[in-house]
Amino acid sequence: MTPISAATTVVGVMGKPVAHSLSPAIHNAAFAELGVDWVSLGFEVDDDGGPDAMVAMRTMGLRGLSVTMPHKATIISSLDELAPSAAALGVANCVSHVDGRLIGHNTDGDGFVAALADDAQLDLTDLPVVILGAGGAARSIVEALGRAGASDIAIVNRTVDKAHDCAGLAPTARAIATTDTEAAAGALQRAHVVVNTTSVGMGGTDAAGASPLDGLVHVESLTAAALIVDIIYKPERTPLLDAAGAAGLATMNGLAMLVHQAVEQLEIWTGTRPAAAPLMAAAQAVLDQRR
Ligand code: ATR
Repeated sequence: MTPISAATTVVGVMGKPVAHSLSPAIHNAAFAELGVDWVSLGFEVDDDGGPDAMVAMRTMGLRGLSVTMPHKATIISSLDELAPSAAALGVANCVSHVDGRLIGHNTDGDGFVAALADDAQLDLTDLPVVILGAGGAARSIVEALGRAGASDIAIVNRTVDKAHDCAGLAPTARAIATTDTEAAAGALQRAHVVVNTTSVGMGGTDAAGASPLDGLVHVESLTAAALIVDIIYKPERTPLLDAAGAAGLATMNGLAMLVHQAVEQLEIWTGTRPAAAPLMAAAQAVLDQRR
């Protein structure tokens, strides 16, 4: 590895909290693989500090920033240009600094699609997909699924207005209220990919063992070919993934999406697409160390 010097190109992740972010480990693994003199650091930025951080990015010459909670929306008005995904979603999870201009991107959805293609060899064009939830993460995924040509996307959410808004992001998406249990169960039983983007199963205030399928379907009545995805990676195994795995279904947690959205960002910043496997190993090593 090239030693860090005054000439090293600096990127990072900004958020609050940021100390536990896996992004610097993922980015730095990529820089080692690519053999470039770059480094990634974490920047903790207060809730109202997003616009100031963009000024700092310009004046300090940071080449790129990953952007996480709570700044994805507040930085938008400080940027010079938005790539199509960030423009459609109104939020950016990545800023690139090119020739004095700050460009906002959103790589979360593309990371999800790439994770399915790379890690599960799934081509989504003909496969029915159900998205549980309609928050920020669901919106990124639905927008990217639309661009990837997914032909059948059902969005099941407690607040149906948010599901309708989310469905507006892809031509083939439709909204289902969680209370419409018949429609929700029907979509789930047909789905080849079920993606949980709600916080149910993360722990916190949930009942132990809570699953977003509760009250809708039993995991045994899902298609045997279904892949069940939970977009979080902490905990590594949610009650949903445990139940799906026990029923013999394929499962994936959120680590692959995290790594693949970073691959997209690294390609935007450096112009070279790093291989995902060493980045995944770096992220997993950090998680293993924290056990
Ligand atoms: P993120 O950015 O991670 O997507 P978010 O924007 O806060 O987070 O969205 C959270 C999603 O989880 C929403 O779809 C929310 O449903 P509502 O739109 O009805 O609020 C869903 N969610 C959170 N807690 C839930 C619960 N206990 N049961 C069902 N859905 C829940």
